[in-house]
Parts: sequence; structure tokens; C-alpha cells
Amino acid sequence: MQVKLLLAILMPEMIALPNPFLEFLIILINLYFFLISKTFSKDLSVLKSSTKHNSKSISILEIFSDIFSIFSSSSLIGMIIDKDMKILITGGCGFIGSNLAIFLKNNIKNSIIHSLDNLTRNSSKINLKRLKKEKIKNFNIDISSKKKIDQLMRYDIIIDCCAEAAVEASKLDSKRVFYTNLVGTFNILEKCKKDNSKIIFLSTSRVYSINKIISKAKYINQIKYKFKINENFSKNSPISFYGFTKLSSEKLIEEYSFSNDIKYIINRFGVVSGPWQFGKQDQGFVSLWLWRFINKDKLNYIGFKGLGNQIRDVIHVLDLCELIYEQIKKIKKINNKIFNVGGGLKNSISLKELTNKCKEITKNNIKIGKISKTSNYDVPYYVTDNKKIYSFYKWRIKRDIETILKDTFYILTKYRNLFKKIR
Ligand SMILES: NC(=O)c1ccc[n+]([C@@H]2O[C@H](COP(=O)([O-])OP(=O)(O)OC[C@H]3O[C@@H](n4cnc5c(N)ncnc54)[C@H](O)[C@@H]3O)[C@@H](O)[C@H]2O)c1
Repeated sequence: MQVKLLLAILMPEMIALPNPFLEFLIILINLYFFLISKTFSKDLSVLKSSTKHNSKSISILEIFSDIFSIFSSSSLIGMIIDKDMKILITGGCGFIGSNLAIFLKNNIKNSIIHSLDNLTRNSSKINLKRLKKEKIKNFNIDISSKKKIDQLMRYDIIIDCCAEAAVEASKLDSKRVFYTNLVGTFNILEKCKKDNSKIIFLSTSRVYSINKIISKAKYINQIKYKFKINENFSKNSPISFYGFTKLSSEKLIEEYSFSNDIKYIINRFGVVSGPWQFGKQDQGFVSLWLWRFINKDKLNYIGFKGLGNQIRDVIHVLDLCELIYEQIKKIKKINNKIFNVGGGLKNSISLKELTNKCKEITKNNIKIGKISKTSNYDVPYYVTDNKKIYSFYKWRIKRDIETILKDTFYILTKYRNLFKKIR
């Protein structure tokens, strides 16, 4: 215990203590060292500026100042203000990755935030410019290239946001999805193992059984009955090839954590939406709907008889960023956990309801077609049960569906001409 306490004084951000009183004590001790080191450095500068200074007394003071500043470097102030965190965000030029990189850069002082992204997605080049403005460096590396990843510096945490995230694409180009999503996670885990880094993995609600969701949702009659899906919901196949790569990545992370003591958090997100989603078909239905309404373009209700009754819950990307920030701060205590995270019942919406909201916001009206044929990867319903994540963190969903639409609409219209150029 004494060794642990000493280590906690030296590295409070690394050592978890058994009770809050001890933590508070360590914080006070560190604060004390911090103040002493400040006094020494003040005395030093006074002595140095004096014309009659004694070089012996200066070197003694310098030694004391150094010793105390070693202790105080990881003080309370160090924990809260000067986090000095080194974070790598894979897929950092994607929708979520870029929002997260900028959010963390602005919220964790003195942090080094890097991105790894090979700019596969056309829109990623626009996000790269946003990162450059914030002085966030991107490494143009394919995540399936282990050799190049191994050459990167050591990071405290790697946030894995890199994936081919389109469910339907995973049917057509399974090899690329396999290498990006599964081999990519493997390479990141090898890097974590080598450097003793922690990992936060962005997983998906698509790890849950398609058939089980369909069989439960058939009782939904025009959105009257809604159920929530928690972490124990069936994961029986089929779950889509995309879902398979994400669930397999989760299993890899658990195994690496067990055998190599890598601390992890896995978040299974439902639909994420918000600013800097570009309204492409494979990026999520909220921004797609808004974009088509803004441009008075064609839209279809696809599948489930073409009625537009399918329901999803939506989380604002800024709510996601705030959660991950919280998870980073608490990772020494809350780790090795899997959470469902999503908009929940309040933020759930059917396509038909979304159509009405898009009419109101854009003041445009478009005719929506019907395609009855349902993709075998599609589900009629998904609403997240946030009970577990709410029990571990004070974090809560703050932004409602209206805010999500308003914020997404704002950026889509502001940069409309630029976004029109994206294929
Ligand atoms: N957007 C959502 O609604 C949602 C929901 C649940 C989970 N997720 C997960 O969140 C993460 C981020 O999703 P997103 O919506 O930001 O996706 P995105 O497509 O916008 O971003 C992915 C980024 O990864 C990059 N990339 C793709 N293949 C790569 C490769 N081989 N090497 C290096 N970079 C590569 C792309 O260029 C892109 O910038 C993904 O892991 C996804 O599975 C997203």
C-alpha cells in the first residue's frame, strides 16, 4: 500500500486508489509540492536577477526546485489542467473522428491529438482541412498496414474510429471491410500492447441479431409499442458482415486485454448524427434526409412495405464527444466495459416523422417514393437502452432530435456548394 501511495503521489493519473479520502489526500500533497516548487523558482529568478548573486546558492535552489517540480508535475493541477495526454484517433478525418479530434484538442489542455486516416472517404479531405486549422496532424496510413502503425510514437490512448461503416457496403466489398475493420483493430491492439496504451473502441448497435430484432419488432404497430435494447440482447447470426467485423473486433479487444492487460472501453453506438455529416447515402439517414430536402432531390422509403415506419434513435455527435471525454478522464477507474450508447426513446424517430420535421426546417416539400423490397441486412427498429452507461457516468444525453436536425442543417446549408462537390 505504501508503494502504491508513493506512486500515486508521483503519477496520480496512472494509479487508482481504493477510496476518495486517499485520493483527496494525494491531491493535497501534490498541490503542496506544486506551491513549494513555485516558491523555489520565484526565489531562483530573484537571485539570478540580482547582481551580487551567489552561484552555489543558485545551484542548491535549482536542485530543490527540480525535485519539487518532479513531484508537482503530476499534481492536481497537472491532472485537471495540463493533462499532457497523447491521443491517436484512427479514422480521425471521418465524421465522428474529426468532431472528436477537434473537441478533445479544445478540451484537454497541452494534449497531443493525432489522426490516422488514409482519406478513403471523399468527404475526409474536407475534414482534413478542419483538422489542419486546429493544428491536428493526420498520418495518411492505411490501418491495415501494421508496419507503418508500429513506427508511430507512443500514445496514452488510442480511440479507434476507423471503419468502413456502411452496412450495405460490407456485403459488396467484404475483403476491404475485413481488412479495415478487423485487421485494423488487430494492428491497433498490437500497437497498444507494444506501448502499454489504452483503447476506446467505437462499436455499433449492428452487433445485435437481425432476426431477433425483426421478431420483437413485428409487434410494433405504427410506433405505439417501443422497447429498448441492452447489452445482453441476442448477438446470434446474422448480424451483417459489418456487424460481424465489429463484434469480432470487440472479442479481439477482450482477449488482448485479458492476456496483455490492455485497458479498454467499448461503446456500441446507435445512429450518430450532427454537423459535418455530409448527407451521403451511406452516412446515416438523418443528414441524407435533410440534404435531399435542402436540394429538393429524390427520396424513397426503402423496405418494410415502403411505409416509412422504421424507427431509430439518434445521438448528437457532440453528446458522443462529451461522453468520450468523460471516459478518458475516468479510464483508470472505469475500464474493461462494454456499453450501449444512443439517443434512447426520447430521441427515437420514424422515417415518416423525420420527413415532417425536414419539411418544417427546410420549408421545402418533396415527394417520397416507395420501394417495398427489404434488404436482408435491414432492421425495422432500434432504440438503445442507456441504463448501463448512465449507471457508470454522470454523463447524459443532452441534445434532442430538434437540436440534432438544427445543427446538421446549419452546416449543410452553410457549406452547401462545397458539399455538392463530394461524390
Ligand atoms: N456514424 C454512425 O452512425 C456510427 C454508429 C455506430 C458506430 N459507428 C462507428 O464509428 C466509427 C466512425 O464512424 P463514422 O461515421 O465517423 O465513419 P466515417 O466513414 O465518416 O469515418 C471513417 C474514416 O475512416 C477512414 N478510413 C476508412 N478505411 C480506412 C483505412 N483502411 N485506413 C485508414 N483510414 C480509413 C475514412 O477515410 C474515414 O475518414 C466507425 O468505427 C463506425 O463503425 C458509427
